[in-house]
Amino acid sequence: MNRIGYCTGTTSPNRVTFQSQYPVRLGQFVNLKYTENGKDNILLGMVINVQRKNTYIPQELPNLTHIDRIFQESIKDTKVVGEIQILGEIIETDNEVFLQMQRVPPLPAAEVLKPNPETLKKLFGAKSKNHVRIGRLLAEEEEIPVYVDVNQIVLRHLAILAITGAGKSNTVSVILENIVNLKGTVVVFDFHGEYVKAEFKRDGKNVVNVIKPVVDPTTLDIRDFAKLIGIQHNATVQFRYFKVALDNVLKGIKEEKGLEWKRWVGTDEFFFRLKNELESWLDDENDNVPIKGKIREDSLYEVINKIDDTLDELSHIIKVGAKDLIENIEPGKINVFDLSEVDEEVADAIVSNILKHALDERKKSVRGKDSKLDYPLLVVVEEAHILAGDKRDTDSKYYIKPRIFKIVVYLV
Ligand SMILES: Nc1ncnc2c1ncn2[C@@H]1O[C@H](COP(=O)(O)OP(=O)(O)OP(=O)(O)O)[C@@H](O)[C@H]1O
Ligand SMILES: [Mg+2]
Repeated sequence: MNRIGYCTGTTSPNRVTFQSQYPVRLGQFVNLKYTENGKDNILLGMVINVQRKNTYIPQELPNLTHIDRIFQESIKDTKVVGEIQILGEIIETDNEVFLQMQRVPPLPAAEVLKPNPETLKKLFGAKSKNHVRIGRLLAEEEEIPVYVDVNQIVLRHLAILAITGAGKSNTVSVILENIVNLKGTVVVFDFHGEYVKAEFKRDGKNVVNVIKPVVDPTTLDIRDFAKLIGIQHNATVQFRYFKVALDNVLKGIKEEKGLEWKRWVGTDEFFFRLKNELESWLDDENDNVPIKGKIREDSLYEVINKIDDTLDELSHIIKVGAKDLIENIEPGKINVFDLSEVDEEVADAIVSNILKHALDERKKSVRGKDSKLDYPLLVVVEEAHILAGDKRDTDSKYYIKPRIFKIVVYLV
């Protein structure tokens, strides 16, 4: 007999309560079966909450003297109650099995049954050659492999949500392994250096391409450049000083060295010139201060300090003349941008810049123009709540939102 129990109380299309005499497991799949108007309805559900209780053993007893005897005599009255999340109606035709959204509440007293493992195998199994195995159902006694359609993953956006340590990164690794086997290209933004050490192999060769995010600040959008050195959008005066100084310095350098100035001017000299420009505004004798009105010295010093700090702390990720970050992406590989050594603001500036360029290049490619990215990408954003959290105003969010490339696996 494969009946576990019955639905009890009020039912709804997506959730029911049930009662059973058997120890039902959390996460276990069940069938709900009821007959209405001559039609058998079989639904698939998952046990999401389960409790055991015995009315003879209430929360509090007058004393514990007879508890053993009460328990022995009432053990047969111990019951299991819980909740089932309804996943859909199982539709079985000659050649396929699929779930259809359940719109009507099942009848109260519908039977709760153990599902037929063969039906589960068909539901979670491979339906085409695009399906890849990601694991097995944990709560089932029998081995039920679970397959997902990689095309569905790369054609849509996918968020993998679970509490910490639940296995999100592991799930993504399994998916990536399969995608790389199919010669797909992946970009991972890695905050904890988790993927840097990972080994993904195809035909025996490691296919992980670790990219240290070295950026040329002069190729960044001015706001990203400002953010990189720690000037926030809302620090209006600082931002203004920084912008004017940057424009002036770039203009001066180009006049002096020509358009190929990066061949002669290195990172240190560039920032040195930027600092000099700002410091020159403090000189009372300087008649060429490009800012109208009185200079606010505190804001000016703030900007100068930030430039100093940038050179001290970020010299490993900032380099005038560094090649465009997306040029480091290699097709058919897992390209890991290692963000483990930068803080969240800097990571936002880097990620938004990469996504913006990648999007531009993909658009060009799709329109048949010359492009640095002539192949689709799957982008994995680890710790997506940092870059795309609901309450955060980040630049990356604009690109992570479901508008870009086909792709994006968010991990929260
Ligand atoms: N399917 C699995 N079987 C066995 N162990 C697993 C499985 N998935 C994950 N683990 C182990 O559980 C631990 C946590 O996994 P993982 O790092 O994938 O979790 P996470 O959800 O990404 O966590 P975090 O929120 O901290 O990033 C790791 O030690 C991993 O090896
Ligand atoms: Mg993780």
